[in-house]
Amino acid sequence: MNAGTEKILAAILLSLTVSTSPLAAEPVTPKLTAKLSGLLQEEMRAVQGGMTRIHAAIVMGQHQSVAENARQIHDSFILQQELTEQDRKDLMSAIPKGFISLDKEFHRLAALLAEAGRDKDTNKQHRLFSKMTGNCIECHSKYVSDRFPGVRLLKD
Ligand code: HEC
Repeated sequence: MNAGTEKILAAILLSLTVSTSPLAAEPVTPKLTAKLSGLLQEEMRAVQGGMTRIHAAIVMGQHQSVAENARQIHDSFILQQELTEQDRKDLMSAIPKGFISLDKEFHRLAALLAEAGRDKDTNKQHRLFSKMTGNCIECHSKYVSDRFPGVRLLKD
């Protein structure tokens, strides 16, 4: 193959990757070590449980429960857990920047939701809960598309 053909092939390949992945970034799941995947799944199940309890607490005006459960979600941050130096390296090589910022954003919203619980502000709780749900959907559709192919963020 001469250099010209190689360049054309490279250009075609590049355009294919770009055009077929507007939203679905490469899933991170296959790149995680078994330990990290286990920890993340554990965290996610805790988050799911917390969100379910928060939903009930918001609609019943149980502000303290909103605050406590949101606090727990905030504290479950995998990046803040006791990870060994090697785990940390494995994590950083598996997940892209976009994933980290989504995770940070999500945990920041959880802190705000805890505050809205303490302030007994139902409106704000509703808004933040909805934004957090948006984060779940965004991260799953972009980075967990292998496990959750049904989560589709279509432009309207
Ligand atoms: C920044 C990314 C990110 C955000 C935000 C996120 N998730 Fe996840 N979630 C993941 C990844 C990655 C997995 C798959 C982990 C694996 O299988 O290794 C996952 C898996 C899950 C699972 C399956 C757990 C299991 O037992 O396998 C549930 C349930 C879940 N997430 C719920 C949620 C909920 C609810 C929210 C929002 C309130 C949320 N997630 C927000 C990345 C995210």
